[in-house]
Amino acid sequence: MYSIAIDGPAGAGKSTIAKTIAKKLEFIYVDTGAMYRAMALFFIRSKIDDTDEAVIDAACKNIKVSIAYENGMQQVILNGENVTGQIRAEEVGNMASKTSAYPSVRAALLDLQRDLAKTADILMDGRDIGTNVLPDADLKIYLTASVEVRAKRRYDELIEKGQEADLAVIEEDIKKRDHQDMTRDIAPLKQAEDAVLVDSSGMTIEEVVDTVIREFEKVK
Ligand code: DC
Repeated sequence: MYSIAIDGPAGAGKSTIAKTIAKKLEFIYVDTGAMYRAMALFFIRSKIDDTDEAVIDAACKNIKVSIAYENGMQQVILNGENVTGQIRAEEVGNMASKTSAYPSVRAALLDLQRDLAKTADILMDGRDIGTNVLPDADLKIYLTASVEVRAKRRYDELIEKGQEADLAVIEEDIKKRDHQDMTRDIAPLKQAEDAVLVDSSGMTIEEVVDTVIREFEKVK
């Protein structure tokens, strides 16, 4: 069984790239950010203070996250409820970035993530897959892009959806999220020593996909 780990900061295009590659290689795609988002949704709904670690620890005991697949698309299940449609909001992403720094939150998801890799060829994306979840992955990619490029992509996405967007605010949000994800004590976002660095700033989606597939051909 093969495993590919793709890590990188918010907005680097991980999920778009990962979905396309998983389809091409006929691997199962596992989006671990969605799992942290499902937990964050629980904390938001429960009006939990994201700075209160004791309350977060206690709440983790009441959370069960699992995933399922519908027409090949990952669905995230939070305590029996499919919350896939509700976890994409900015508010949920920000809460996920904050609460994923707590050991109890990470511990609640680690076994699920590792077990998934035992069942099929998988492509898993997140922040700590190559460094922590799957240290023996057959291929590790660190996918990044400049803050400016990531902010512009997000801006274009929102405008396309007919939503309001402010480029400067998005850029600040991205910087804040990078800082939180990269400086936390456990499993911070960083490039694994044996990961291949791909900077997608000046690349098209197809170019990134081809690069990753070429890297996989070398190791398989
Ligand atoms: O990739 P994303 O934006 O859906 O992830 C949301 C947050 O979840 C991210 O800011 C940090 C956290 N996360 C994590 O700590 N570890 C992972 N493997 C994936 C996500």
